[in-house]
Formats: sequence, structure tokens, C-alpha cells
Amino acid sequence: MTTFEYAPAPESVRPQIRERYGLFIDGAWTAAHADRTFTTIDPATENRLAEVAYASPEDVDRAVRAARKAYDKYWRKIKPADRAKYLYRIARAITERSRELAVLETLDGGKPIKESRDFDIPASAAHFFYHAGWADKLEWAVRAGRTPEPIGVCGQIVPWNFPLLMAAWKIAPALACGNTVVLKPAETTPLTALALAQIVQEADLPPGVVNVLTGDGATGAALVAHAGVDKLAFTGSTEVGKTIARTIAGSGKRLTLELGGKAAHIVFADAPLDQAVEGVVNGIYFNQGHVCCAGSRLLVEERVHDEIVARLTERIATLRLGDPLDKNTDIGAINSRAQLEKIEELVRSGIAEGATLVQAPCTLPGRGFFFPASLFVNVHQSHRIAREEIFGPVLSVLTFRTPDEAVEKANNTPYGLSAGVWTDKGSKNMWVAQRLRAGVVWCNTYNQFDPSSPFGGYRESGFGREGGVHGLYEYMAG
Ligand code: NAI
Ligand code: MG
Repeated sequence: MTTFEYAPAPESVRPQIRERYGLFIDGAWTAAHADRTFTTIDPATENRLAEVAYASPEDVDRAVRAARKAYDKYWRKIKPADRAKYLYRIARAITERSRELAVLETLDGGKPIKESRDFDIPASAAHFFYHAGWADKLEWAVRAGRTPEPIGVCGQIVPWNFPLLMAAWKIAPALACGNTVVLKPAETTPLTALALAQIVQEADLPPGVVNVLTGDGATGAALVAHAGVDKLAFTGSTEVGKTIARTIAGSGKRLTLELGGKAAHIVFADAPLDQAVEGVVNGIYFNQGHVCCAGSRLLVEERVHDEIVARLTERIATLRLGDPLDKNTDIGAINSRAQLEKIEELVRSGIAEGATLVQAPCTLPGRGFFFPASLFVNVHQSHRIAREEIFGPVLSVLTFRTPDEAVEKANNTPYGLSAGVWTDKGSKNMWVAQRLRAGVVWCNTYNQFDPSSPFGGYRESGFGREGGVHGLYEYMAG
């Protein structure tokens, strides 16, 4: 296949990044206890971006108290229509500052600018717009005769793969339902959460309704353990999710967990193969594969295996890897050195266990954390690369012969977050989708998201839903 060399097209906007950021508590910026800080870098260059305050248990306590006071004093009492106005303000501010936020997201986390520009930031604004619409209509979301009641103070811990979007998924429904929030962004990607705190301040929300604490796992653990928190919402690794569930067991705190995945992406021989291959590529290489619902286990009907692998091999050779700020880049930087090492270790295990690695021919930049688009053939169900979440741009290809076998293999995983099915036959699509144990099943498409559509998992992928009416229930008492 001929590909054209594209001239560099770097994004020219450079958002203002402060030298140092404080914690956002009770509507104001404050230094952390003992003035502790940490550094966030650009994973594409390893350059330092900013010093960020590190929240200790003392800071967690201050933030939770501020959130409690704001809950009792303002937020649970104000008219729902007024809550909506604040949410609309935040949504509009995200839209107005979308270009700056997109660049910030890409700089801090390494994802391609075309993804932060066209997906992360618009989807974040959409979540605030959607939930603003619900704020004064919640009695239509609950059973007739019931009054919608908030839960109280929500501790919300988000990961680094969709930093602003995960913050929006959590904050927007919490506020719409009348709760107040303490948000803990991930240590490698704090900058858009801090920009969101600035937006919250400019939108003039009552102090303490939204608090943002930057820090690491210990900060998150202190938030989880704090007695003043009524509800916890976590997105991240299954391991930490289990720790959180153990910590709060018996405390009466409400909990939602959105954890890992190892999604099956099923392609039948009768599928439109051109579209299916595009869907598979989008399903695994989007955001360098740092996606909990990534279609990381490709199950292809045996008689089209060779053809699909040939098409995929050709297609991944055309993906452009490099500067995440270049508008033509398809594969940006891996989020951190630790994540790169995890990917490399799992890829080595795949080779050692006998699978065959196919990689896009490309030159990796000299600095920063990068990994080429990759796929494995000759994969067995027992291989680690077929069972464990890699969370990188690595696809494992397996085969099946009958629809029954496809379903059995797809469900042979401790996870259950998402799945995809490609076939030209509508009834087969429905037959398979009904049997897949996954929270979301995409038919003849992949990675479709909408604020009105609930998202969440089964088993080791967690519980609870985010988005839609179902997501609202997670932020209402009763
Ligand atoms: P992680 O689960 O440690 O981090 C996610 C968030 O939880 C971060 O904000 C972190 O500071 C916080 N955290 C860490 N330990 C905590 C604790 N004990 N209590 C409360 N909060 C805590 O995930 P990590 O180490 O960054 O990534 C490891 C693997 O997890 C990835 O390779 C991937 O497989 C999976 N992962 C899944 C995500 C998803 O979207 N479901 C997102 C991020 C990671
Ligand atoms: Mg960073």
C-alpha cells in the first residue's frame, strides 16, 4: 500500500501552564500540608510541565469538611434549576476553552491531539450539558411518588487514560443530583483536572461544592478511608478497586467501580471486512490502547483469519506514530514509563509463550515513551496476552469456527466490560450480543459513547453504571 508522507502539522496553541499548582479546597487555591509537591511531565518528551501540590491525609480531611459544609449549607438546598445553571456554565466554559484543554490533555498524558480535540474535550462538555438537563427533572428518573434525594459527599478517584472525561463522568451526575465532590486525579495527568477547578471557580460555584486534590495512591487511599465520605466512585485497576471494596466493607459507604477489561471483538466471515478491520483498529489502537473497553482480544472466524491478519498488518503500517501534538499523529506516547514497562513485559511473555508478534514498521522517537502498534497471531487462550489486560497498543488474535464457540471464548475471561460483534446478518448479531457477558456490546461498530448511554461492567470489571438514567441512580439516596 502506498502512503504519503505528511508534512508536520503541529498544534500551535500553547496553553499557559503555571510553574506550581496548589490544591483546590473550599473554593480557593491552597498549598498542601507541609508544602509537599510532585512533578508532572510530558510523556512524549519527558520534559517537566509543572510542580503540583501533593495532598496528604490532612488535606483530604480539609477537603472533605469543605465538601460537607457546602453540601449542608448550599448545594442540597438550592433550587434544582439553579444547580442546572451552574452545570451549564461549566459545560459552556469547557466548550469555550476546548482548544486549550485539548492541548493540555495531550501534553500531560501523551494522547494524539486529534483524539483530545475531537473526543475527550467535546465528550467532557457533553456530559455537563446532559446532566445540566437532568438537574431539575430528577423526579422523572425515580419511581412515581418518590422524591429524588442526594447522597452527600462523594470521593471520586480517576485514572490517567481520559483525565478530563473521567472527571466529567463523575462530577456532572454527582452535582446534578445535589451531591458535593472531592476529586482525586491521577498522578501523571493532573493538569486538566486543575483547569477544571479553575473553570469551577470562574463559574462561581459555591465554595466547597467541587474540591480537587492532586496526589497519588496514598492520597486516594486517605480519601477512601475518610469517615466523612458517603459515596466513592473509582475508575482504575481491578487490584485497587478490590482494595477499596475491602477497605469500606461494612462502613455503609456507597461504591461504584469501573475497572479493567479484556474485551472480545468478534468478526464473522460474512462481516463487511473493510469496515470490520477499521473497527478493530479503532477498538485497540485508540488512545494507544489505554482504554478499559479496548477490543484487545480479536476473535475471527477461522476461514477469514489469514485475510484479516493480512489486512490488519497492512493497515497498522499506515498508522503514524510520533509527536502527539501533530494533528496527523495516530499513535501518541505511552502515558508513563511504568506503563511502557508493563506493556513490554507482557509482550515479552507473549513471545516466550509461543505467539508470533507482528509490528508496524516505524522509527520510535529518541525520547519519551513510545510503543509501536502491534498484534499477536498464534495466540492460545492460556497465554497471558490473551487473559491479562495489557492496556497498550497490542492486539491478540484468536480464532473460532461456530457462533457457539465464539461466545464461549469471548466469555472465557474474569472481566466483562465491553465486546464487539461484526456480521452482515442482523439475527446473528443479536443472538451473539445477547449471550455476551459484558456491560456494553457494540454491533458493527466500536467505541461509541454518549452521555445518555450507561457504561459499566460485570465481575472483575466492576459494578455500577455511569451515564444515562442508570448513572443518576448511583448518585441518589435510596
Ligand atoms: P491505579 O488503579 O493504581 O490508578 C488509578 C487511580 O487510582 C489513580 O488516581 C491512583 O492515584 C489511584 N489509586 C492508586 N492506588 C490507590 C489506592 N490504594 N486507593 C485509592 N486510590 C488509589 O492504576 P495504574 O497503576 O495507574 O495502572 C495499572 C493498570 O491498571 C493499567 O496498566 C491498566 O491495566 C489498569 N487501569 C485501568 C483503567 C481503567 O480505565 N479501567 C485506568 C487506569 C489503569
Ligand atoms: Mg503528565
